Amino acid sequence: MNNKVGIIGAGHVGSHCAYAMLIQGVCDKIIFYDVNKQRAVSQALDCMDTLSFIPHRAEITAGELKDIAECDIVVISVGGIQSEDRMSELYSSHDIIKEIVPKIMECGFNGIFVVITNPVDIVTYMVQKYSGLPHCRVIGTGTGLDSARFQRILSTEININSQSIQGWVIGEHGNSQVPLFSSASVNGKLLTELIKENPDKFSNINFEKIEEKVVGAGWDIYIGKNSTEFGIGCTCAKLVRAVFHDEKTVLPCSAFLRGEYKNSGIYTGVPAVVGKNGVEYIVKISLNEKEQAKFNMSCKVIKENIKKLNL
Ligand code: LAC
Repeated sequence: MNNKVGIIGAGHVGSHCAYAMLIQGVCDKIIFYDVNKQRAVSQALDCMDTLSFIPHRAEITAGELKDIAECDIVVISVGGIQSEDRMSELYSSHDIIKEIVPKIMECGFNGIFVVITNPVDIVTYMVQKYSGLPHCRVIGTGTGLDSARFQRILSTEININSQSIQGWVIGEHGNSQVPLFSSASVNGKLLTELIKENPDKFSNINFEKIEEKVVGAGWDIYIGKNSTEFGIGCTCAKLVRAVFHDEKTVLPCSAFLRGEYKNSGIYTGVPAVVGKNGVEYIVKISLNEKEQAKFNMSCKVIKENIKKLNL
């Protein structure tokens, strides 16, 4: 096995992606690239100090873009949250992506991009445009983290382990994201039915309030530490693992729509089967009218912001 991951951006997010991959034994080599060379070296050295504790041997170094281009997967985690609206990073992220992605491709990269940089749905669209790779091999973490937050928040509300809860968030990884209450379930039991059958237990469940918490969850973390790290690190590791082990797992991620969910031509958060070639196909969960309308609105937000870039 020689699963190699390049990480562009050795800041809070990139370093926590590395840590999550190492502690879960997801890859064999990690190369950090950052414009701040010392930071890349320090993150690599710090990660090397986990070697006595992680499931198997791994090599972690800092490198240049030519080294990154030799990796199987490249994680893009440059930039950083500037405000409650991730869309505020649109132009600064575009400036970085239009400069660095062509350089990685010129060095011969022919693997899969996993994009985290916000606004992630549009940055994933940019990376596909500037790399020219097939859409399936450019994947954004999208609403993977939001879906985990949806399950965590539901878990608290209904007092059931979050790992027994299936709950999808689709659309923009941002303020227009759409938690799908109509299909949320507890090991196959629809949440709506569970609540109806147990009015005494769940009389105070308020979907609007839960939705507010899910949409604002990233900001609730950011205001106290100027970043988010652990959840996004695990979200990234899960995507990378699905590729390296050809898991064919159904994961919420930012994938390219070709008519699925009645929208097309953009990347946005949807459930997709992920395996060795990236996104294999998108899984269509049924939406009620309200969810479809919200999803259409979310796709509109993404389309309108893509237009601003004249890509
Ligand atoms: C968050 C960042 C990754 O939601 O957008 O934590």
